[in-house]
Amino acid sequence: MAEPFKAVKISDHVYWVGAIDWNIRDFHGYMTKRGSTYNAYLVLADKITLMDTVRAPFREEMLARIASVANPADIHYIISNHSEMDHTGCLPEVIDAVKPEKVFTSVMGAKTLKEIFHLNQDLIPLKDGDHLSLGNMTLSFMETRMLHWPDSMFSYLVEEQLLFAQDAFGMHLACSQRFDDEVDPAILRYEAATYFANILMPYSALITKLLARVAAAGLSFKMIAPDHGPVWRRDIPGILDRYAEWADRKLFRKAVVVYGTMWHSTEKMALAITEGLLTGGIDVRLMSMDECHRSDVAYELLDAAALVVGSSTLNNNLLPGMADILTYLKGLKPRNLMGAAFGSYGWSGEAPRQIQEMLTEFKVDLLAAPLQTRHVPDQVVLAQCYDLGRGIAEKIRQKVKP
Ligand code: FEO
Repeated sequence: MAEPFKAVKISDHVYWVGAIDWNIRDFHGYMTKRGSTYNAYLVLADKITLMDTVRAPFREEMLARIASVANPADIHYIISNHSEMDHTGCLPEVIDAVKPEKVFTSVMGAKTLKEIFHLNQDLIPLKDGDHLSLGNMTLSFMETRMLHWPDSMFSYLVEEQLLFAQDAFGMHLACSQRFDDEVDPAILRYEAATYFANILMPYSALITKLLARVAAAGLSFKMIAPDHGPVWRRDIPGILDRYAEWADRKLFRKAVVVYGTMWHSTEKMALAITEGLLTGGIDVRLMSMDECHRSDVAYELLDAAALVVGSSTLNNNLLPGMADILTYLKGLKPRNLMGAAFGSYGWSGEAPRQIQEMLTEFKVDLLAAPLQTRHVPDQVVLAQCYDLGRGIAEKIRQKVKP
């Protein structure tokens, strides 16, 4: 039987030749509920060029898609826009199989790929602003350091106004469709936001600068082809606008209350704080870390003004699930958050203070001393929790215009 995998034409000279990972559910700690794709693209120019590759187990799928439109041995150039292994895992084997004339990457990419794969192949470094002739077509390059790694770059196919954007503007979404206009816009928005929150949020300041550089370069885009998820051909202004909003962390009157509880005492406190926030006119997400995933908390924090965190004290420490989420958020560095800590304890009560310290590490503006109680909160403590919620609501309303 002939190989079932086919290339998908996305423009006059460019084909999608990537792979669909329908069943991946964990991407280094980020729950990918809808799977993912690893997008590679084949440019059928005079110099046939493969743009990125795929995760190692998907090499045969990619090569079969390439073979449906071109002989892989005819590939002249391979370009690696990003060294992370979901886009380079099979690069050494593909170089061996294809024997391209040249392999290009960014200056940092050349260093990183050597360190990952210890390649014998010469890698030709491209600098910001370099151009590469493919004969009848031209690529230009823009360094995009830390979007998502120091090696990352954009490649722009001038004649087709097509941007190969590697991780930028992507999403983890395995689906039958290859273009944004074929997918439910609500799913696109949710998955692009979840991807931004869990992968790109730490680099928000750099993304703001990058968007300004892209605007200043005066490039037009008929298509943006990321390395994950659908190709953008309809709502290009929309995804650019949303990236600007997310990078600026445009705030809403919204609070996220995250907690872990042993015998429901900390949970009672969380519910009372939530009631205070709700009656103060704030949109609230109450998330037990026994039930919710860290990547959903990151998503909710993308536009929240406050983060309130509670934990029971277990053996002089936070509950393990709370240490997990706080460590994760410390890495993602959500900016411009207000917050507070709370929790119930039996005899020592270290957890709320530990939460305060961790919130301080990612610069949360703490609005109150830790609120804690021994064992089960009584009506007095629950009233204090409610008042804490009302107080945070008032601060949010002062800070965030409706
Ligand atoms: Fe899709 Fe940073 O790799």
